[in-house]
Amino acid sequence: MMLAMDKNKLIGKEGGMPWHIPGEMAYFKSVTMGKPVVMGRKTYDSIGKPLPGRPNLVVTRNAEWSADGVQVYTSLDLAIAGAVEYYDLQASNSDNSTIAHNTAEHTTEPPEVMIIGGAGLCREAMPVTQRIYLTHIDHAYEGDIWFDSFEWNDWQIVSRKDNELDGLKFTYFVLERAA
Ligand SMILES: NC(=O)c1ccc[n+]([C@@H]2O[C@H](COP(=O)([O-])OP(=O)(O)OC[C@H]3O[C@@H](n4cnc5c(N)ncnc54)[C@H](OP(=O)(O)O)[C@@H]3O)[C@@H](O)[C@H]2O)c1
Repeated sequence: MMLAMDKNKLIGKEGGMPWHIPGEMAYFKSVTMGKPVVMGRKTYDSIGKPLPGRPNLVVTRNAEWSADGVQVYTSLDLAIAGAVEYYDLQASNSDNSTIAHNTAEHTTEPPEVMIIGGAGLCREAMPVTQRIYLTHIDHAYEGDIWFDSFEWNDWQIVSRKDNELDGLKFTYFVLERAA
């Protein structure tokens, strides 16, 4: 999972983000690039176009919904299966060719399926989530969507990077399930 939240777990405002933090999108891009990104339909609408360089998988209950450059699924389970299939295809392509197609296969990390929000989809994905890339912004914003499925006590900190920009403090956490 990858999300950014404020000190009250706020993540959204009126269909968009409550803040603009220069550099935060670049960090999001660096973590997710080359990996399948799974998102709720409202999060897709808030972005408005497919994220380049990543398979975009959108979950909606509306079987009629479509958008150019994205794969559409009617359940989270089907979307995760679609993301796994993507990695299977990458692996079989690289078996048949000397050309490397995916950065993930060159790391010692297992391939990651990235759930990128919003709150609705995260609620359902939380039980199967093993790692969270969580940006914590040390400020209280106004908004209307919260990362309410997240509990600090369920997670241990693998790494953290503290940042400060114009007096605003924010931290990039990597969290894994507490034992
Ligand atoms: N701060 C962050 O890191 C971050 C990240 C992502 C999003 N956001 C913000 O969060 C807000 C959007 O989040 P949200 O919670 O309102 O919506 P969301 O989770 O992005 O999308 C909800 C929609 O996804 C579909 N959906 C969700 N679960 C499903 C399931 N199990 N099976 C089938 N379809 C399912 C449904 O689409 P249909 O209605 O089409 O059926 C549902 O209405 C925006 O403000 C966005 O900017 C913030």
